[in-house]
Amino acid sequence: MYYPEALVEEIRAKNDIVEVVSGYVHLQKRGGNHWGLCPFHNEKTPSFSVSGNKQIFHCFGCGAGGDVYKFLIDYENLSFQEALKLLADRVGVVLPEPEEGGEAREREKRRARLLEVSKEAAKFFYYQLRGPRGEVGYRYLKKRELSDETIHRFGLGYAGKSGAELVSYLREKGFEDELIKEAGLANYSEKHGLMSQFWNRVMFPIQDRNHRVIGFGGRVMGDGEPKYLNSPETPIFDKRRNLYGLNFARASKSGNIILCEGYMDVIAMHQAGFTQTVASLGTAFTPEQAKLLGRYTENVLLAYDSDGAGVKAALRGIGILREAGLTGRVINMRPYKDPDEFMKALGREAFEERIRSAENSFFFEIRILEEQYDMGDPESKTKFHREIARKLCGFSEEVERENYLQAVAEKYHIGIENLRKLVVGYAAQTGLAKPVERPRQSVKKTGPEESGKRVQRLLFTWISDEPRLYDKVKRYISPQDFTDPLYRVVADRLFGDLEQGRYNPAGIVGMFEDEEQRLVAELFNTNLPKLDTLQEKEKAFHDVLLSVKKNSYEYYTARMGTDVDALTQAIKGKKALEELAKTHISLE
Ligand code: GTP
Ligand code: MN
Repeated sequence: MYYPEALVEEIRAKNDIVEVVSGYVHLQKRGGNHWGLCPFHNEKTPSFSVSGNKQIFHCFGCGAGGDVYKFLIDYENLSFQEALKLLADRVGVVLPEPEEGGEAREREKRRARLLEVSKEAAKFFYYQLRGPRGEVGYRYLKKRELSDETIHRFGLGYAGKSGAELVSYLREKGFEDELIKEAGLANYSEKHGLMSQFWNRVMFPIQDRNHRVIGFGGRVMGDGEPKYLNSPETPIFDKRRNLYGLNFARASKSGNIILCEGYMDVIAMHQAGFTQTVASLGTAFTPEQAKLLGRYTENVLLAYDSDGAGVKAALRGIGILREAGLTGRVINMRPYKDPDEFMKALGREAFEERIRSAENSFFFEIRILEEQYDMGDPESKTKFHREIARKLCGFSEEVERENYLQAVAEKYHIGIENLRKLVVGYAAQTGLAKPVERPRQSVKKTGPEESGKRVQRLLFTWISDEPRLYDKVKRYISPQDFTDPLYRVVADRLFGDLEQGRYNPAGIVGMFEDEEQRLVAELFNTNLPKLDTLQEKEKAFHDVLLSVKKNSYEYYTARMGTDVDALTQAIKGKKALEELAKTHISLE
């Protein structure tokens, strides 16, 4: 579905970016901008800025940037269409109905129906649990020490012994068989027709982070196989991108998130007050889930089962968290199997203590590694040290690597110098493997081309900060003076707007997509020199203008031999330069 630019513009204009971003990131006003911790990379001091004037955001740390749409697209993982819808709804703009049923619209309608049928099924299970036939389920949950409040809060339910009831209930509510099947709620067989997928189980509705039911997990009561039966993947149930309990955990202000393995663990933890707990959905923890967690915290505590499988899963989880730039620590659950059992046995305060003493994930990895080697055997011991060195090479930042190197050397009584040698040796062998992906750094390139672009960026930022300057400089400067094709398009549009008395940086930023949008937002967010007096400012601005002109003059001069237009530009440029050199531009 394609929406007219005027509508996109209207919705952007009605949604103040500062307000929208404030719903996700804590912002504080400083100078002309609002600042906060960047949600797109990890940081401890704010370098994420949102400009109310320009209606764009830009991170000086990782380079993320764009308009209000781009923010939602990146932050909420939305498509442009979805971001538009969200913002339109937010300010009460009614989007026009598309003329014909486009494919995307059909898909959207289907998803909405799937959500409806899932919600209805959750209701059915919920009431079953409270009816006479659900007593067996209710008793089971009680035996597992869940309070009525907890049962209610998680919407727990019961799937009865008759597989036909759910189906007839849903049919009665107007859902067609095809949909019930697609939602993973029932299966068709020749013998029985359409029958519920879940049968004689307590039911855990799985909600997305906006509390919408997207699937189910069903547990047998007592022993039986499989222990948990989960809904299959459907258009609304993406197991890689959702986490059980996140709908509550995202609102918890604990400063960390606890990741565990099972639904019951999450529920027991929440019941004990640890509402920051989540679990993956019956599958291994994924990079997508790590990214999702990264929106809410950078501290993840792993509360995995204490058995061999749990340790293995924790090791895998640590790697995934690290890749996502998150810090993982491991909670020791021993002598209990999982958080649910721990909580029952020792309770809340004991767990608090375990959180405090959670092990740094690197040391956890090394400790587990150690178990595979025989420290009494010199050869095995050397192998162990070598393996430590290899792991140390995983830290791409030198300071961090050195800190860990010293700590681990001390802890395992390895000579620091020896360990350092092993690290250097390993790094040399492998060209220093760089397995850890760090957020994009604003790479400082140098050279004439880059410095030419730098002053052009300064000029963009300056004019977009003080649009009235345009009138003062327009006789000296034109889009041709911008030597990068992207910059030229931006200048063309910016100057064109200003010429007509319009000012809309966010509109310009929004013309571009992805990487380009980021770069354009950056153009409007260069660090201007901090100057106190008007004189200093005027001097600096004059210098910037002059540098841009000079750069442009040199650019065209170099191309004169091969390009006729370049000759014209160069001649014009020379004149403007001369004039500019002796003109004072007042910023008052
Ligand atoms: P309880 O025995 O009820 O305490 O379960 P738990 O929450 O401790 O779960 P467990 O540690 O056995 O398993 C962790 C998670 O893995 C569960 O919450 C399920 O999501 C998933 N899981 C467990 N058993 C099965 C199974 O048989 N099939 C599938 N698909 N998933 C399972
Ligand atoms: Mn358990």
